Parts: sequence; C-alpha cells; structure tokens
Amino acid sequence: MQHIFIEGNEKNAPILLLLHGTGGNERDLFPLADMIDPNASILGVRGNVTENEMPRFFRRLREGVFDEADLKFRTEELYQFIQEMASQYEFDRNKVVAIGYSNGANIAGSLMYHYNDALAGAILFHAMVPLRNIQLPDLNGTPVFIAAGENDPLIPSDETKELAFALRNANAVVSEFWTKGGHQLTREEIVEAQKWYGTNIK
Ligand code: MLT
Repeated sequence: MQHIFIEGNEKNAPILLLLHGTGGNERDLFPLADMIDPNASILGVRGNVTENEMPRFFRRLREGVFDEADLKFRTEELYQFIQEMASQYEFDRNKVVAIGYSNGANIAGSLMYHYNDALAGAILFHAMVPLRNIQLPDLNGTPVFIAAGENDPLIPSDETKELAFALRNANAVVSEFWTKGGHQLTREEIVEAQKWYGTNIK
C-alpha cells in the first residue's frame, strides 16, 4: 500500500497508524499525529481503492452502505500490510495505535471487529459500524477513543452508540466524546483525543 513511515524520536513510543477519510492521502493526518504524540513513529497509509479518483480504504455501494466483501478483503490486506511494515521498518507490531477519520476510522473499527491483535489502541473520529452480524474477537482491554458529532448528517448518534456498545461488549475500554458538531473534525475533539492518549496509551 502507498505509505510513509517516519521513525519517532522515542524508540519505545507507539507507532501511529494514520488512516485518512474519503479523498485523503497518507499525509492528511500528520498534523494530528504531531499534536497527539510528537515523539511517536508514524505510518501514514493511503487507501487502496478509489471512488471517482478519491482514495478510500474499501468500496461502498453508496453513502453509508458498504461493500462488505471488499471491506473484509481490505481489512485483511491492511492487517497483513501492518505485519510486513513491522518487519521492514523494525517496529514493534504490538504497539500500533490507529488514528482514523471517517472512512479511515471505519477500517480501523473493522480491524478490531476481525482481529484481537491488530491494534494496541485506536482513536476513531466519526466512525460508523463497519459491519453487523459478526462475532467480535476478545479485545481484552484495548483502549478506544470515539469522537462523534451529535449533528453528524452521515452518522446517526445511535450508530456511534452501537459501535461503542459492540466494542465494549468485546472487552475494549471505550471512551466517548461528543460535540454538537457535524462530520467535520474539530479542534476540541483533537485536544480531547490528545488528553485521552496521554492517560490511556502512554
Ligand atoms: C466517508 O465519506 O468516508 C463515509 O462517511 C464513511 C465511509 O464511507 O466509510
């Protein structure tokens, strides 16, 4: 997958896996990563599918309706990619923390819906339920931060709550942060994510 890896100053710091929203790229979330943990290593990845030339991490049939077969395929592809990158760049596979926005948060959610060891933690900005009717693995205390907008036109509040419920039910430790905003990423969410990271990851 197209990507950029930047080794952090601190050898033992986490590796931030940056997953952009629709139409983004592997560099989009660099400023966020810098705010959240300036010492961490960064693995910025570009989604492998395109929709009208806009990169995404998996196909959708229409807004909010995912191509589940592709989502499963792309989730496994990303999982394998992380393993490969860990040997290529010699980082600790067990210290990968995802930061995803929208489509990127959805594939991060899907990684946790499929694998118990994909992520050491996740910050999900404006995430949806990636898929339903599957048994989640035991996430065994994985810390997850979910930020959502009460007025997000793409994601009803109940869907965010369903996602949080499913992850908690799989033993993830989920923190929710709600704003009055919509689908846009806001500064207050990033500041809150930074605080959460300081107590839950570092
Ligand atoms: C997006 O535009 O990225 C959607 O809201 C989320 C998705 O399709 O995964």
